[in-house]
Amino acid sequence: MQTKISSLLSVVESFTANSVHEVEEFRVKMFGKKGDLTLLFDEFKQVPGEVKRELGQKINELKSKAQSRISELKQAFDIADAPTFALDASRPGSADKLGTRHPIASVRSEILAIFRQLGFAVAEGPEIEDDRHVFGALNFPPEHPARDMQDTFFIEKSANGENPILLRTHTSSIQVRVMEKQQPPIRIVCPGRVFRNEAISARAHCMFHQVEGLYVDQNVSFADLKQTLLYFAKELFGANVEIRLRPSFFPFTEPSAEMDVSCSICGGKGCNICKGTGWLEVGGCGMVDPNVLDSCKIDSKTYGGFAFGMGVERIAMLKYQARDLRLYFENDVRFLRQFTAAM
Ligand code: DAH
Repeated sequence: MQTKISSLLSVVESFTANSVHEVEEFRVKMFGKKGDLTLLFDEFKQVPGEVKRELGQKINELKSKAQSRISELKQAFDIADAPTFALDASRPGSADKLGTRHPIASVRSEILAIFRQLGFAVAEGPEIEDDRHVFGALNFPPEHPARDMQDTFFIEKSANGENPILLRTHTSSIQVRVMEKQQPPIRIVCPGRVFRNEAISARAHCMFHQVEGLYVDQNVSFADLKQTLLYFAKELFGANVEIRLRPSFFPFTEPSAEMDVSCSICGGKGCNICKGTGWLEVGGCGMVDPNVLDSCKIDSKTYGGFAFGMGVERIAMLKYQARDLRLYFENDVRFLRQFTAAM
């Protein structure tokens, strides 16, 4: 037994392995059911009492040497097999890809921020509307072409055919919703999506964004409207910008005007963006028609107001000079990535 112990001891001490697998094989060879050490322990049970103590010590020594040799080798292979990057503290980190704000979202918040400075509150309304809020209360006569099937997406005809459900064609409907609930003074800007039954092209889309503005109080004049729009244009396009109001027609305003800003690209000299005119059209405006106030139960003899509406894509196109409207809705990251700094 003594010799068996010494020869096993030299086996253990000289054991080396080329893989974890070999270490495992060795463990089984030693400690498995029929392993050398297991058998040795079985044999030990039979040894006579006088030598038990001495042999017992030696066997235990052999056992712990074998165990520590095995775990030593296993650990060495564990470290060698571990993925190397876990150890490479000098490896450069990979940058997180940050998202960007959509250009339409950033232009919309820029517009709203300017009007907030002037004390306008933000109001919103439903995209699925009824005829009264989109047309009727805004003084559109029943036969007005804007109600035509070609412009409006109708959703549901009402039972009596009077107030069909439809997708709003402009954010002016929010004016009506606010005026129905609130008496003057009213000072609001209303951002939102609008829908029109149009063929999609570089210049037109069936869905786009508008910001509507409404100011109702006593003694509101056309000069107030003009000054508000001038302030807005200077904040958005720069201090040197000029505005021009051209007579126009909208059923809900009287008088009505089309608002142009001097071309920020050529400074008003004329270029291909402004088609040589020096002016860019940004939206419509006017003094609220008394019929609109009356239909919302606001006394048009005491109160008056102005309103304006502008297209967010139109302003984005002027700001960024991306001239195909469809780019704003396709969400192609190659386009969107260019707006990383536009927060
Ligand atoms: N709602 C008009 C449109 O969609 C824009 C507009 C024009 C709004 C004049 C107004 C306004 O409030 O006064 O074309």
